[in-house]
Amino acid sequence: MRHALLAALLLLPALPVDAAPTVRHVAASRLFFLETARTSYVLGVNEKEELQQIYWGDRLTRDADLGPAHTVEGHSSFDPPEGLSPVEYPGFGGARYAEPALKVTFADGVRDLVLKVVSHEVRENALLVRLKDVSLDLRVELTYRVFPAHDVLMRQVVVENQTKGVVVVESAQSATWHVPRWTGYRLTHLAGRWAGETQLFREALGPGRKVVESRRGTTSNHQNPFFAVDPGTSDEEHGPVVFGALAWSGNWRISLERTSEDRLRVTGGMNDFDFSYPLPPGGRLETPPFYAGFTSGGFGEASRILHRFVREQILPDRASPRPRPVLYNSWEATLFDVNEEGQKRLADKAAALGAEMFVMDDGWFGARKDDHAGLGDWTVNARKFPRGLGPLIEHVHGLGMKFGLWVEPEMVNPDSDLYRAHPDWVIHFPGRPRTEARNQLILNMARDDVKEHVFAVLDRLLTDNAIDFLKWDMNRHVSEPGWPALAPAEQRTLWVRYPRNVYELIDRLRARHPKLEIESCSGGGGRVDLGILARVDQVWPSDNTEAFDRLRIQEGTSFAYPAKVMMDWVTDVPNMNGRRTPLDFRFHVAMMGSLGIGGNLDKWSEADMKLGAGKVALYKSIRATVQDGRLFRLASPREGSLTSNQYVSADGGQAVVFAFLHAQQLNRPAPVVRLRGLDPAATYRLRTVDDKLPGTPAELSGSALMGRGLQFRLTGDFDSTVVVLERVAGGA
Ligand code: GLA
Repeated sequence: MRHALLAALLLLPALPVDAAPTVRHVAASRLFFLETARTSYVLGVNEKEELQQIYWGDRLTRDADLGPAHTVEGHSSFDPPEGLSPVEYPGFGGARYAEPALKVTFADGVRDLVLKVVSHEVRENALLVRLKDVSLDLRVELTYRVFPAHDVLMRQVVVENQTKGVVVVESAQSATWHVPRWTGYRLTHLAGRWAGETQLFREALGPGRKVVESRRGTTSNHQNPFFAVDPGTSDEEHGPVVFGALAWSGNWRISLERTSEDRLRVTGGMNDFDFSYPLPPGGRLETPPFYAGFTSGGFGEASRILHRFVREQILPDRASPRPRPVLYNSWEATLFDVNEEGQKRLADKAAALGAEMFVMDDGWFGARKDDHAGLGDWTVNARKFPRGLGPLIEHVHGLGMKFGLWVEPEMVNPDSDLYRAHPDWVIHFPGRPRTEARNQLILNMARDDVKEHVFAVLDRLLTDNAIDFLKWDMNRHVSEPGWPALAPAEQRTLWVRYPRNVYELIDRLRARHPKLEIESCSGGGGRVDLGILARVDQVWPSDNTEAFDRLRIQEGTSFAYPAKVMMDWVTDVPNMNGRRTPLDFRFHVAMMGSLGIGGNLDKWSEADMKLGAGKVALYKSIRATVQDGRLFRLASPREGSLTSNQYVSADGGQAVVFAFLHAQQLNRPAPVVRLRGLDPAATYRLRTVDDKLPGTPAELSGSALMGRGLQFRLTGDFDSTVVVLERVAGGA
């Protein structure tokens, strides 16, 4: 029998790489191989029954190259082996001094947790490893999911209390990622503040810990849950990069610790700051997914991997992707002063520009006339809309556009009917001062009664009105995080239960209203992460729509998130600061994401409208390439006088190049722009929108475009252009 099987196996052709199982357990070496098209991640069970990382990098070709896992040798009484080994999910216990992934207190006061492998299960594209404490019945199930075509891994854990007492979880991280051993480590991350989100920061990591995090109850405008680490020598197109992103819109944390052994471990998940989660006997706590990957192709490739992954594996339309429509939003035109007639007039003009979705922003509900009242009362303001929203929506639909509406469902103004009826529904500590940022308080969405109320109100709004799209806002962060209805020991579960309930709310609304589309906004880019992106179609990266500032905000956003979800508006100048950029510059900047228009169209001249209509038409002809293509960041706004981005369509048939000169100095010509990602042997026809490529032939080979590059005639301040390349012949 055995021989027959062997003979049959020998007759089989070798499995092509892509058909090989992506998760394999090699019993002899006790190793697990997690494989994607271009990478391998290998872990093994060591002689102490601990799960240990062995390898992460470019794909390996021979299992036999790796031996079984062994604890690293200790070198003194101060550094015993268990603290030095790259354990996959270290508990706080034993002689382990680096950042733990899990820290608990048992009912009897024991605070020592040593996790050993109990069993494992290989599933399709997934590995489950079950761990248990050496003596107490606390269990952890680690899940590894492999996305083979996308070169991405996901890790997540469930902690389960099988003891007879309450176990208090003090930190439960989603994963510890061990970065390959390099001689140096450099962190790239995104930070900023309101109106200045996602600025790119790069810093060498010396010994010790660097933490990026949010303590604000939501993702935050201040730091974004994305990281990339390289040896300090990688660039846009070359060199190893380990990158990752958390799928969590609550308090999060990514800690990067360079140990005394010169290894770097990245530990991330729910923030352990002010964290305490009591698990009763039988209780479970699931951590959010932490996605990560490795590439040898530099930061550009890391971004392209994430872009494709988000589009094809995370977004709600992942199974049947739809292009994002060109949107008009009335906020900057009218602020709170909305009414049927004014909105209809703007809608007419938006339709004339070619917009496909019209969004009415703040001001349409309750007693809302400024930001002092009305939040919480999601009924149409009868003074502004005596006939309800129906006639406006019909008008917008009649123009061939979708209709969208602004809501801020998690908030309440003290001056609102909802607050007067339920003052106990807000997050607060009784008898203590409470912060009323933007004159508003936060509904405690962690409470199920509050969640059900908000669901009922939104469900009614969507049932009574033909609303196609919600801009879901959140205009302040959690402070004074009290939940007086619960015992003190339970109150800190708010940090976990609030974002979970918001997720559930959106999921249920989408299930009840399957055509509904949603934008995640939080005073700009305050809730942009892979957790919210699993349930919304797009995000608002920043309230700052000033085009030159926007170049940096969009560059940072593009490190982790695809152009398709990045909503960008063309607005009027001056805006945010005194800068006045030309209208075509503003359009070109906004066309590098999902195009929107947010200017006051009542004030646009005929020439502005003509220019705008032309740009919207141009955008529609390149939309698939920008939204779903591969991005090459050719020149960064951080580094010189020129910014340039290139997008190449999935089939390579179209490429689009945007170039922006910030300021010309000393009469110098604009820097040459060398394209990337083209087929060197193919010929491309160039379509320019202006006269800014003088003397350039109408057709060029990929090799010339990438080797010699393009010399744009961009002059003065804030000059810009866009070139569309269509592949006409040749190449592979
Ligand atoms: C936030 C949003 C803006 C706008 C206002 C309305 O600031 O980011 O785009 O919707 O709220 O109050």
